[in-house]
Amino acid sequence: MDMTVINQALKDVACDVVIVGAPRAEKGQESRELVRFPFAQELDQILDGLITSMYARGEFKGNVGETAQIYSMGKLAARLVIVVGLGSAEKLQNHMFRRASGVATRLAQSKGAGLVVLALGENSVEGLQAVVEGALLGTYRFQKYQTAQDTTRKTEKIQFLSKSAEDKGAQEALKRGTVMAEAANFARDLVNEQPAVLTPGELARRAADMAQQTGMEYTILERPQMEELGMGGLLAVAKGSAEPPRCIILRYQGAPGERAVALVGKGITFDAGGLSLKTAAGMETMKGDMGGGAAVIGAMQIIASLKPAINVLGLVPTTENMPDGASYRPGDILRLMNGKTIEIVNTDAEGRLALADALSYAVKEGCSPIVDIATLTGGCHIALGGRRAGLFCNNDQVSSELMKAGESAGELFWPMPLDEEYGENIESQIADVRQTGGRYGGAINAAKILEHFIGNADWAHLDIAGMEFAEGKQHYMQNGATGFGARALAEFVLRRAKK
Ligand code: BES
Ligand code: ZN
Ligand code: ZN
Repeated sequence: MDMTVINQALKDVACDVVIVGAPRAEKGQESRELVRFPFAQELDQILDGLITSMYARGEFKGNVGETAQIYSMGKLAARLVIVVGLGSAEKLQNHMFRRASGVATRLAQSKGAGLVVLALGENSVEGLQAVVEGALLGTYRFQKYQTAQDTTRKTEKIQFLSKSAEDKGAQEALKRGTVMAEAANFARDLVNEQPAVLTPGELARRAADMAQQTGMEYTILERPQMEELGMGGLLAVAKGSAEPPRCIILRYQGAPGERAVALVGKGITFDAGGLSLKTAAGMETMKGDMGGGAAVIGAMQIIASLKPAINVLGLVPTTENMPDGASYRPGDILRLMNGKTIEIVNTDAEGRLALADALSYAVKEGCSPIVDIATLTGGCHIALGGRRAGLFCNNDQVSSELMKAGESAGELFWPMPLDEEYGENIESQIADVRQTGGRYGGAINAAKILEHFIGNADWAHLDIAGMEFAEGKQHYMQNGATGFGARALAEFVLRRAKK
């Protein structure tokens, strides 16, 4: 995508579609509100008051992501105008700009607009960054397997209209927004890819290619090295699969000598449940069970591109979870990398086993904080409804930083408990710990298992089950993978580096 920031009068802008942002107007305030949005006001004048009359009739309310299409009939150089709602003028937040930009740019693309101009009237650096992200996230498509080619033209060029186009800040916003969104789209490609193609080996290859392109150190562990390290969890899950497991290690160094932050992502490329086989319906979306891993790989791409002064270790333990004569079984007792033993109850609770070894690896490397991200439990999806991801954390400072990073990225979290009492659910009669703790509080029980493998590190666990795919259209997300977590994790790391 070719993108530039320009400063020009609306009526002179030559393009296929021009997108203009307008606020939600409270009753009787239409024109007064518009005055605060110079582009909307300018457009209203060019169109002889058409926008104010749309407000007056209640035809356009200005809710976030609401759109109205107006053919310009030669009144301005652009063929089509899309007016997009920004929500309440009192509470304009960056994620409103991101949403409005995403919805409107996608609509423009569906009209075959090759050149789109976005005039949302936002001039703050973060606001412009959000607009850029929205445009790139909104126009993303995964069409690799559609042989009947979509004939509508892809949007090739976007210009952002801003009064401060010449400022250094505008260029910075353009760069950061592009880097963030491209990495999120890379994560979406990984999750959207079919599981027969995106095997653990292929996931590792794509991560390695990215590391090479961004000049980041990487190591891909294979079975013999995992055996040497004692990664009994990841290896047990992999036993039932014809595809060999991998452990992807990405190392970004921006502050030599300092303690590294670790990002750990669950990379189950397909979760059939193993011998505790899932139902057909339960398996339908299980190519997305590497969504946490994709988020870590995406976040590492952002970090390696923007080069903050901080060290980050990215870890993605990856395997399939399949039923087979060689599969691990309920009743098996595994010894994991940190020496603890775990009694297997249900082979479908595989994510915690793969993560446990990667967490132990991060602890051994001396990392802190350690943040893991995983499509870990159906229970978390049920609890939070797919609108927020669960945040479990043993450190208030880290928790608050993650909440803020999530808000800034428009990838929202919600705090969940880790009380000692929940630990009783996972006591075992035969091993150090029991793999599952029953149905009630399933997301918390899973987090309590992970807690056994984090040593003395500050730690946060993000349960993103249900966030990896968007159902229907959610603002800038289409049906399909969201890349959830890549931008929030990167934002968390970038903010840490500033201090
Ligand atoms: N990958 C699933 C969790 C999941 C479910 C992610 C739905 C996304 C959407 C995970 O491996 C799993 O199967 N968890 C079980 C654990 C149970 C057996 C203790 C679950 O949540 O039911
Ligand atoms: Zn599972
Ligand atoms: Zn799983």
